[in-house]
Amino acid sequence: MCGIVAYVGPKDAAPILLEGLQRLEYRGYDSAGVVVSNKGLKVRKVKGRVADLAKVVPARFKGSLGIGHTRWATHGVPSDVNAHPHLSADERIAVVHNGIIENAAELRAKLEADGVVFASETDTEVLAHLIAHAADENDTLEEAVRKTLKSVVGTYGIAVIDAERPGEVVVARNGSPIVLGIGEKEMFAASDVAALVRYTRQVVHLEDGELAVLKADGFHTFSSDARETAKEPLTVDWDAGHYDTGGYEHYLLKEISEQPETITRTMSGRLDERFHVAHLGGLNMDARETRGFRRVKIIGCGSAYYSGQIGAQLIEELARIPSDAEPASEFRYRNPVVDPDTLYVAISQSGETYDTLAAVQELKRKGGRVIGIVNAVGSAIAREVDGGIYLHAGPEVSVASTKAFTSTCLAFALLALHLGRVRDLSPADGRRIVEGLRRLPGQIEQVLGQSDRIAELAKKYAPHPSMMFVGRVRGYPVAREGAQKLKEISYVHAEAYPASELKHGPLALIGPDMPTVAIVPDDELLDKNLTTLGEIRARGGQVLMVGHREPDAKLADDVIVIPKNEIELDPILLTIPLQLLAYYAAVALGRDVDKPRNLAKSVTVE
Ligand code: G6P
Repeated sequence: MCGIVAYVGPKDAAPILLEGLQRLEYRGYDSAGVVVSNKGLKVRKVKGRVADLAKVVPARFKGSLGIGHTRWATHGVPSDVNAHPHLSADERIAVVHNGIIENAAELRAKLEADGVVFASETDTEVLAHLIAHAADENDTLEEAVRKTLKSVVGTYGIAVIDAERPGEVVVARNGSPIVLGIGEKEMFAASDVAALVRYTRQVVHLEDGELAVLKADGFHTFSSDARETAKEPLTVDWDAGHYDTGGYEHYLLKEISEQPETITRTMSGRLDERFHVAHLGGLNMDARETRGFRRVKIIGCGSAYYSGQIGAQLIEELARIPSDAEPASEFRYRNPVVDPDTLYVAISQSGETYDTLAAVQELKRKGGRVIGIVNAVGSAIAREVDGGIYLHAGPEVSVASTKAFTSTCLAFALLALHLGRVRDLSPADGRRIVEGLRRLPGQIEQVLGQSDRIAELAKKYAPHPSMMFVGRVRGYPVAREGAQKLKEISYVHAEAYPASELKHGPLALIGPDMPTVAIVPDDELLDKNLTTLGEIRARGGQVLMVGHREPDAKLADDVIVIPKNEIELDPILLTIPLQLLAYYAAVALGRDVDKPRNLAKSVTVE
């Protein structure tokens, strides 16, 4: 949420900052700004996209030290003045900030009482004024920032420059990510490695409470009590090519289309054909521990939570361990009972979602055993958990999650197989699942092959103001994710219900204006689902069915037929047509597919 970039080195900062901000735009995109230092601070900031900012940055915007920001508004509407960077009254200090300063109102009132005049409505501006005061009284910028942060309550990732110290940037982290990039006689910092990989693959993640001072020739990191900390650089696997659209019109379509490969990467090296088990070395758990869990509790936000519902069903079905999923934000605020015999699983593509991270920290505080299913290597959640499964799905840039969703479901299938095979799951069932998993990439390819037809269907259904999504048991989380995809990128109102719940209320909504997308796999619930379709059609509702075959009677207006796999793995394949449906509906309605309004990819605020 919000993107930060910082540069210090021999080159001009502005083009590097703008390029970095473009890479980070998916984190927030309502306004953007840059500041460079060159005999004073030079600032440009605008409401709108990074491309709008680039238009107002003149060619002669020279300065080899600078910071930049792309915003997702929390305090104050998107506007030129509320855009970051924010400057102190004397224009000596500039700050960019991600996160929320919770005591901003109180700090602002004190500053105003001292005669400070604020330019913006943001919580960030208090930091600029406070650091400027502290900079007058302290020898180094690092000290000034550290002392200021002691009076601040809230979450932040910040980057700060001082016109009077033109060779250094100070960054700090508490709850919002900051990554340093180590170059050749130049240093970078950003809120996400995406902004760095074009320049360096050597990165250092800051921990909460840490500060860093960056100069062209290197960096030093400090704890909040001014002790120097030792950091080991990490090499990032992803390069700049992973962040291109690769010839596709949108990142979303690229990421949907990549799923045969991303699924393959998630399972690569982890399936054992001989004993029909899954090898998950990263869990850091021996067989005894693995056998000892009596429950599994899964937490995540948004699509990650829905993939957790699919995961809970896979674990119950294959390992027969009671399992359930809950939104991480609900979990962390209800003072949950933390049980030593429960395996907690935190899911996050970015590894930075604040509510999920806070839930993990709460679990750890209370002695819970937590593993992570995470895509971003070295991210905060990955560092916090006791072990886990990396997705290896490559960076996901589009705000709506697609390939990370299916890779997470696949990781759950591996986890369920692993837990099942040290308990009751038979070798024959283990083999069935291993073989089923191997078939998935080819079958996803087959579903992708139906894109043109799904695009036609999307055009037909997109003009309706509302759509209902229904499914039973394995189909229900699929329906929820399908509705989520549609509403977030096309803004068509969509609701998901368990098919059996329809008659307990939402059936009242069904009629010619509200079509239903029905998830109807060829499983033990087929007949029950077909009955639901009859009920919908009897009320004049149109039905778009996704399943394994055309129903015998005319129970659906349109049917998307997908290949058959093992029933436990159905949710993965059933999800693909719904991603395509949402994508093409958004395109048909002329939406900004990769950057839907009001949303951001990494939600690093509470
Ligand atoms: C945001 C994104 C969603 C994503 C959720 C969780 O809301 O828009 O697509 O599912 O965050 O993100 P995570 O990185 O934790 O998986």
